[in-house]
Amino acid sequence: MKPDFFILAPALLLAASCSSEPEVPPQGTVQQLMAQDVQPTAEVYWNSVGAASELVDGEPVFREWQPETDAEWAEVRTATQHLQELGELLQTPAYADGRGDNWMAYARGLVDAAKAAEQTVEDRDTDAILNDTGYTLYRVCDACHRAYPPEELAAEGATVDDVSTAQ
Ligand code: HEC
Repeated sequence: MKPDFFILAPALLLAASCSSEPEVPPQGTVQQLMAQDVQPTAEVYWNSVGAASELVDGEPVFREWQPETDAEWAEVRTATQHLQELGELLQTPAYADGRGDNWMAYARGLVDAAKAAEQTVEDRDTDAILNDTGYTLYRVCDACHRAYPPEELAAEGATVDDVSTAQ
């Protein structure tokens, strides 16, 4: 029996490690990564430029904002760079395994959109941040979420073409 045991044990271990749930990567599950890193980082960009009416002492006041100081611009730029890293991270096996080619394309789409976003920060192009480039970034997120819905939501319509940001 002993020899059998010694031969079998490693095989069983291997089988066990293959069939068990994939290990949670250091940065967390996709859901944790999204909620704790991707979303807040994208919001730094999206919220950096905006306009809103608010009541101040009962009077409606129209307020517009954008980064003013070099430090504020740098913070937004760092966010766009971090989004590129997150797009790269989503392409690593810990997140991409078993998801197919489309996943890689969506994750690359995030890198591309975040690069374009970084350029708008370099150019201090507040209009692009508020409109085109900000919206393109949003569409990349949205396209992947349609293709890989959190739960049972059926994938509807979105294709990889939707996230193409090639210029
Ligand atoms: C490559 C695909 C992909 C891209 C690109 C992507 N996501 Fe996600 N995201 C997912 C998946 C898959 C889930 C569902 C995770 C789950 O519930 O298991 C998700 C879930 C989320 C959630 C919900 C987290 C929660 O607490 O349930 C938020 C918020 C989110 N993503 C934000 C974003 C934002 C913002 C972007 C773009 C800047 C983005 N995502 C881009 C794949 C992606």
